[in-house]
Amino acid sequence: MTEECKITMNTGLRGVTVASTRVSDVDGDAGKLIYRGYLVKDLAENASFEEVVFLLLYERMPNLQELASFKKALVSEMPIPREIIAALKTRPRDSLPMDILQAGVAMLANHDPDIRIEGEREATLRMGIRLIAKMPTLLAAWSRICTGQDAVPPSRDLGHAANFLYMMTGRVPDDEITGFFDACLVLHAEHSFNASTFAAREVASTRAHMYAAVGAAVGSLSGALHGGANTRVMQMLKVIDSVDNIDAYIEKQLTGGGLIMGLGHAVYKVDDPRALILAPMSKKMGERIGEVKWYEISRRLEEKAKAAFKRRKNMDIYVNVDFYSASLYYAMGIAMDLFTPVFAISRIAGWATHVLEEQYADAAPKPMLYRPESEYIGDYCGPAECAWEPIERR
Ligand SMILES: CC(C)(COP(=O)(O)OP(=O)(O)OC[C@H]1O[C@@H](n2cnc3c(N)ncnc32)[C@H](O)[C@@H]1OP(=O)(O)O)[C@@H](O)C(=O)NCCC(=O)NCCS
Repeated sequence: MTEECKITMNTGLRGVTVASTRVSDVDGDAGKLIYRGYLVKDLAENASFEEVVFLLLYERMPNLQELASFKKALVSEMPIPREIIAALKTRPRDSLPMDILQAGVAMLANHDPDIRIEGEREATLRMGIRLIAKMPTLLAAWSRICTGQDAVPPSRDLGHAANFLYMMTGRVPDDEITGFFDACLVLHAEHSFNASTFAAREVASTRAHMYAAVGAAVGSLSGALHGGANTRVMQMLKVIDSVDNIDAYIEKQLTGGGLIMGLGHAVYKVDDPRALILAPMSKKMGERIGEVKWYEISRRLEEKAKAAFKRRKNMDIYVNVDFYSASLYYAMGIAMDLFTPVFAISRIAGWATHVLEEQYADAAPKPMLYRPESEYIGDYCGPAECAWEPIERR
């Protein structure tokens, strides 16, 4: 690259378009999220997770017959090898579940019959479908093993959402809870070039396999500024504990330069459309279990934090997807440190789709190996490079 066309950006790539995609679009100004042309709101209200996975992978909605056979294919891929269950039992019980998931993804690669096939789209697709099917089984198994219980195998009679809840609790969930969880899976399934998807695409751009790309994405999602925010939202709600303590909490965070988790977004400059759907579900789920406290604290915190940001920073801020999913998952009885892995068992649908697009997109412009530049701001010893000094003379 010539000196004239070098552009240095210390901006976390904000506003930089690094590739084209047909998978999804986020309009941060209008608060719109679409998967393959469909509004996420319509999908969350009407489609099952399996339908959305089909849409993402095959670029169109399935008909009745296609959906039935896709569901059958997914559920038949749900079991995980018994060697992996045995390996999970050797892990310290207080391991971070996102680390277990990342290690589990790598272990699943060891058992995949297609793992050595390179450059074949159908093989990559099969690997993606296996991961979409098996990650919930892996996570549910860990949720039981880490509490001293036996893993529950998937049921062939249940759909994807119900199967996860069944494998986690050992009980078949009712239709209302299944519906809420299914909608959560749909809402978290895809979000264009967010940090973890970009991580997956970057790894896929080297032509590494599906599992390598997804392992990197799981690591990226675990961070507090990304998917890790949902667990931290619940921890924050627990610290606040009462509507009466909200003002003091906001004051402390904003004065001390701390974050209010679940607020703000790199792209949305209005309400996150997913939060608008999750909030009423959190309320209903709270009412159902007779504990609306966490929803109420969330709602009042949202109001008060928005006002505080306006007052102190003259800035509008909005809640993101993690804000109301926290109180919703909590009311559903999901353990707090499973919130982020639950995000992952949904987002695997988007990651797998992006890996396929990264490696096999047939329309121009074709993706290429990511290799950005950096600006060296380290030391020189004067105008030239440092002179080598043998160790005994330093
Ligand atoms: C998501 C996030 C990283 C986006 O960051 P960003 O793009 O830098 O956000 P902005 O540019 O809009 O930030 C503008 C200002 O608001 C502050 N801000 C943004 N979100 C904030 C939050 N949740 N709590 C406190 N301050 C926040 C920033 O620190 C910045 O302050 P400054 O101008 O004094 O430096 C950020 O909002 C955040 O850390 N949120 C909390 C974590 C979270 O919920 N993550 C999940 C995202 S889906």
